[in-house]
Amino acid sequence: MRTANQIRVLIVDDNADTLEWMKVLLEHDGYATRTADSGAAAEEMRGAWQPQLVLMDLRLPDIDGTELLTRFKEAAPGTEIIMISGHGSVARAVDAMKAGAYSFIEKPVDPDVLLAMITKALERLRLSDENQRLRAQLKGRDRFGDIVGSSEKMQQLFQLITLAAPTDANILIHGESGTGKELVANAVHQNSKRADGPFIRINCAAVPADLIESELFGHKKGAFTGASSDKVGLVQLAEGGSLLLDEIAEVPQQTQVKLLRLLQEREFRPVGASNLVRANFRLICSTNAPLDPQSSKLREDLYFRINTITLEIPPLRDRPEDISLFCDHFLTQFARQHERPVQGIHSAARNALLRYSWPGNVRELEHVLERSVIVAAGTEITLQDLPEIFQQPRRSPASRDALVGQLTLAEIERLAILQALERTNGNKRAAASMLGVYRPTLYGKLRKYKLGEYGKSEATLKPKGGVSSPRDARVAGGADDD
Ligand SMILES: Nc1ncnc2c1ncn2[C@@H]1O[C@H](COP(=O)(O)OP(=O)(O)OP(=O)(O)O)[C@@H](O)[C@H]1O
Ligand SMILES: [Mg+2]
Repeated sequence: MRTANQIRVLIVDDNADTLEWMKVLLEHDGYATRTADSGAAAEEMRGAWQPQLVLMDLRLPDIDGTELLTRFKEAAPGTEIIMISGHGSVARAVDAMKAGAYSFIEKPVDPDVLLAMITKALERLRLSDENQRLRAQLKGRDRFGDIVGSSEKMQQLFQLITLAAPTDANILIHGESGTGKELVANAVHQNSKRADGPFIRINCAAVPADLIESELFGHKKGAFTGASSDKVGLVQLAEGGSLLLDEIAEVPQQTQVKLLRLLQEREFRPVGASNLVRANFRLICSTNAPLDPQSSKLREDLYFRINTITLEIPPLRDRPEDISLFCDHFLTQFARQHERPVQGIHSAARNALLRYSWPGNVRELEHVLERSVIVAAGTEITLQDLPEIFQQPRRSPASRDALVGQLTLAEIERLAILQALERTNGNKRAAASMLGVYRPTLYGKLRKYKLGEYGKSEATLKPKGGVSSPRDARVAGGADDD
């Protein structure tokens, strides 16, 4: 009896007896089978029946088995193929494997070996199907657990988390302040094999340098003044689970050496103890500090240990597609939380939110939305409900403080002139008036900064991004308003 979910196996061999006994063997084991005694027949069957697995003789009357295999793999890359080779043709069978065969089996074929091989091949097929299904599922999703984001960059991140989390590899999460490093760390733990184990977190920047070792490794009573009893360290608390070292770059140098040893040996010594303790945890680190070896406070050897996989979270300004999504997400969340009747965002307010460069990233946006939901009088957030900084049209508040320290005075002046011209559509009289200078003064400066051509090739003169804010000039790290 055939059922719809039977696995379809095509057997290709020019020997009628072989075809017959294999067919009987496989059908007995519940597979649906078809047979083909030549390459041409096999190809016809592939198109019409689309087998998931093919048993293929290396030697066929009309075509070389390896050639047929290549054609099958081209037409249906997902098909698993097992080659059947005659005695003494192992070398050719190996070639076939290089061309994409799953495995090969030598004649005379042992039925048990064949069945076991088929089971394995199908398991691989199932896994790759599962992978594809996951990919398809992730594609176009606008959240991953608690992490919101529909931009291509976030979709890639979700995919990487899905792949990396179940492995036990050390993970380094890198991103500016407020980009959601902690959320990502959580997602890694939740999607790992250790999800049922503890998830222990330490913010290395918040612990005084002289206490961090005893926090991490624990200590014996009397190990130092103030150690009035034995203390279990966080490494031990993370046993069987994951350990998040938040702001890893802030770990003092001598502790970095001990961490390195811990990662190498998988054991550590509590402060003041004589014995070593075995450790079994998955390490997740995060940092917003630059990772390049010159400016990093991290020892290079430690860095290479902890970053087996780096998850890079892009700043919000690099994925503006996500801003609107976040606005709606936080609006719904805070309206419910604060029991406010707010249901939407007026277009002028939304535009102002979209134009802003968000130096504090998602955290900053979250705070702005929370505040706006609370102060909004009606069912819609209007421009007036946003912090004052959003109400000056076409002016990016982030740019104000960011200019100094990033640009020279001359560069700032040049930028101001460009912006004035941009806003007045190149009208120099209006631009001079906007800048509060006489027209001749403006002309002098246009010459000085070689902007005399403004208007003729406007695109090249506009600041990058065509927006009024010099986004690239922003100070890394931005506002941390927590
Ligand atoms: N993709 C996101 N989806 C939903 N919420 C987010 C996202 N990214 C950040 N947030 C929210 O923004 C806030 C800051 O996130 P988080 O604390 O994870 O940032 P961080 O990168 O660890 O920042 P810091 O470097 O300052 O510690 C949190 O309230 C978090 O819920
Ligand atoms: Mg954090």
